[in-house]
Amino acid sequence: MWKRIFKDSAPSEAKAISENPLYQDIDRERLPVHTAIIMDGNGRWAEGRGLLRTAGHTAGVDALKQILKVAIDLELPALTVYAFSTENWKRPHSEVDFLMRLFVDYLSKEIDEMDEDNVRLRFLGRIDELSPALKDLARTAVERMADNTGVRFNVAMNYGGQDEILRATREIARRAQAGELSPENVDGQLLESCLDTAGLPPVDFVIRTSGDMRLSNYLLWQAAYAEFWFTDTNWPDFTPACFIEALKDFGKRKRRFGGLKNI
Ligand code: IPE
Ligand code: IPE
Ligand code: MG
Repeated sequence: MWKRIFKDSAPSEAKAISENPLYQDIDRERLPVHTAIIMDGNGRWAEGRGLLRTAGHTAGVDALKQILKVAIDLELPALTVYAFSTENWKRPHSEVDFLMRLFVDYLSKEIDEMDEDNVRLRFLGRIDELSPALKDLARTAVERMADNTGVRFNVAMNYGGQDEILRATREIARRAQAGELSPENVDGQLLESCLDTAGLPPVDFVIRTSGDMRLSNYLLWQAAYAEFWFTDTNWPDFTPACFIEALKDFGKRKRRFGGLKNI
């Protein structure tokens, strides 16, 4: 594992990773394969400081940049973040509009660095319903990073787990109607291949910040056997140290998947 970290790094960079006290005592064999984060609490973070909710979203982007860096340093195979749910359209138009512009800004500023970091970017959700600017940027970014081989970084944007399962079900029904498959052929593998996460490993770790203990329609199928980590910390205050604490805790979990053996 360490060899992998040193492989493509300049010696000084490699040293920085190995000597970073943050990364000490991490059992790299027991890191999650697919971590999914519900980045919640931007509004509360801002309100607690007498700021507008939008200031919380801006601060949330900075937190995300740092967390992605940790995922890159530790070579986590997959990181999925919840940026905007299918239910978030219920918010005031001004907040939705701000968020959409923030996503455009974030993407346009971060694409180069993500690409340099060998990140493989992907989007989950109804991307086609977003603004032309955001849609185009997302498409360009995905195409540009398609051949990268590092962290699979998935951004759930206009995403809802129920909506995703419904879309997959419709697709399967369409194929059945066209005579391409019969009901007996419908199994978990087929359904998974029709989800936005097709080809990604199952989610084994869900982190939610800001104190609420619910899934809010996030990765309902994929998180079937995930471990959970809840923290009262609001997303903008979720530092690399908080992330490492959660990852270390994941390493201690006993996972049985319905059986009796701890895997
Ligand atoms: C999460 O923070 C960001 C999005 C949902 C887009 P919130 O905006 O939900 O912040 P709280 O939960 O209201 O504090
Ligand atoms: C979940 O947070 C969605 C995102 C973090 C993007 P919400 O703030 O929308 O969830 P609820 O409404 O509290 O369940
Ligand atoms: Mg919230």
